[in-house]
Amino acid sequence: MKGDEFLAHYGPAALVTGASSGIGDAFARELAERGLNLLLVARRADRLQQLATDLQAAHGVNVTVCAADLADPAAADLIAKAADGMDIGLLVSNAGFGLKGPHQANDPAHMTAMLQVNCGAHLQLTHRFLPGLLSRGRGAIVLTSSIEGLMGIPFSAAYAASKAFTNSLGESLWGELQPAGLDVLAVCPGSTDTEAHALQGIDSSTLEGMMSPREVAVLSLDNLRSGPVYVVGEQNRAMFDVLLGMPRRAALLQMADNIRAALLPIEAS
Ligand SMILES: NC(=O)c1ccc[n+]([C@@H]2O[C@H](COP(=O)([O-])OP(=O)(O)OC[C@H]3O[C@@H](n4cnc5c(N)ncnc54)[C@H](OP(=O)(O)O)[C@@H]3O)[C@@H](O)[C@H]2O)c1
Repeated sequence: MKGDEFLAHYGPAALVTGASSGIGDAFARELAERGLNLLLVARRADRLQQLATDLQAAHGVNVTVCAADLADPAAADLIAKAADGMDIGLLVSNAGFGLKGPHQANDPAHMTAMLQVNCGAHLQLTHRFLPGLLSRGRGAIVLTSSIEGLMGIPFSAAYAASKAFTNSLGESLWGELQPAGLDVLAVCPGSTDTEAHALQGIDSSTLEGMMSPREVAVLSLDNLRSGPVYVVGEQNRAMFDVLLGMPRRAALLQMADNIRAALLPIEAS
């Protein structure tokens, strides 16, 4: 669905979390280009404000900014208040972050925050915004997941589990909401060129075949009807077709060996 049809079906307004960077920033830019008004959420208000100014000037859309920390369960109240009076037809619950390394080495408080941002926020925001979407009888929910949600990933245990949760939530809601005319898409990007890698201590110049955030956002928005779980990019689909076709134990051990070898230089530094 493109142009006026997209705007009429999913507009007039979209909520995008994690819009201060990476894939969320790309979702916001693409949606503004498609004429949707926006409510942008993240912690870094200065970045959101700059993006809002740019998008308003470039596309003449209304952009509202809400600085919120999604690790705080009370953030959903703040966001709902900021959305008051906006007709949100598209919820893009995208904010998230990863944790890599041996499970026992991760900080428990950081893991708890990750669960709230990567899982709790999806639950709370879908719960908050569904009544409005249902009363419209059209619209969509996008949950940014990851290919890491498609199976267990050694040395990314907590993150992969958070994304498996997201895929399951997406599938359940897809089944529940199809008859109501709402699209649900759990988007599974593979490696994408954003700040996420540096935040996890990974040198992104060592990563091959990364997609751009814009590609991920455009493909996701062009495939809102391809739910419940949408793996972004041919290469990622091919890789996981192979992994999911293998006996699970063999796939996990092979991945563990590969990742252990890649992590050793990081741990030694
Ligand atoms: N990059 C990849 O290779 C990749 C692959 C698969 C899936 N993903 C998923 O894609 C989504 C977006 O990640 P990205 O790659 O675009 O990373 P990114 O560039 O680091 O962006 C992450 C976004 O999430 C927001 N965020 C993080 N913690 C938050 C918190 N506590 N409260 C509010 N907002 C928070 C950040 O904003 P503030 O810091 O300003 O709060 C930022 O806008 C995530 O769900 C990630 O798991 C990424």
